[in-house]
Amino acid sequence: MNYYLGVDIGSTTTKIVLISVKDYDKTEIIDYGIQETGPDGNKTALELMNNVLGKHGIRVEEIRNIVATGYGRVKVDFVDKTKTEISCHAKGVIFVFPNARTIIDIGGQDSKVIKVGKNGAVVDFVMNDKCAAGTGRFLEIMAKVLQEDLKNFGHIHNMVPDYVEITNICTVFAESEVITLITEGIEKEKIIKGLNYSVAKRALSLAKRVGIDKDIIMSGGVAKNKGVVQALENLLGTNVYVPEEPQIMGALGAALFAREM
Ligand SMILES: Nc1ncnc2c1ncn2[C@@H]1O[C@H](COP(=O)(O)OP(=O)(O)OP(=O)(O)O)[C@@H](O)[C@H]1O
Ligand SMILES: [Mg+2]
Repeated sequence: MNYYLGVDIGSTTTKIVLISVKDYDKTEIIDYGIQETGPDGNKTALELMNNVLGKHGIRVEEIRNIVATGYGRVKVDFVDKTKTEISCHAKGVIFVFPNARTIIDIGGQDSKVIKVGKNGAVVDFVMNDKCAAGTGRFLEIMAKVLQEDLKNFGHIHNMVPDYVEITNICTVFAESEVITLITEGIEKEKIIKGLNYSVAKRALSLAKRVGIDKDIIMSGGVAKNKGVVQALENLLGTNVYVPEEPQIMGALGAALFAREM
């Protein structure tokens, strides 16, 4: 059995994916790990790798290749190669959804939309990494202000039929806006739904710059918030598909590139 490892050191979390390849058409995900990146992404990635390998009784020497991606990829010292986030995300998502044409990835600190051609190649992409608006960080900050666990945002989204529009795009101004809404006695649920819509609208305006084709897939940690996914579906009027574990798509893509080295 041949083993390959993909590492995605994101601004918020580090992910690793271990795959086994019997022959090219028999590639399986053996396991994965997700951990907060913290101050030392290299150390976090090593810890994750040792955990996963230890769990399966696989020695490091048995891993044929390791590929790293993500914002912290340049700092890792135990990998064979690095690859861009765009290529790895596309590769991972297409492995799970071969008909993917538009990939919307929202992580902790950036959001990206990737357009995929019929042959599975990346034809275009846009990225917002200049500001926290519309990212996971935006939602993390708002969850703190609302004293609500971000993990509940998806569930809360469906508790109310309508939402309050969050008019500010800038995270700092939107935070003040939310504080004002709380003071005015607006239901927390309606604010949360409004915040989910705000992130979905930002993603949509980004996606429109490359053009939106079906199938549309959402990946990244924010895809775990079903509220954002549903808001996107509502705004688009079509299905948005989410992998079982959307957060590991970049690391999976990296592992698949390692397989091809
Ligand atoms: N269970 C969950 N429910 C809701 N949101 C979640 C959950 N888990 C993660 N998130 C969101 O996912 C974000 C992190 O996503 P991800 O791990 O994809 O980011 P990253 O890859 O580190 O960042 P980037 O790609 O921007 O460098 C968090 O900011 C949070 O908003
Ligand atoms: Mg990421």
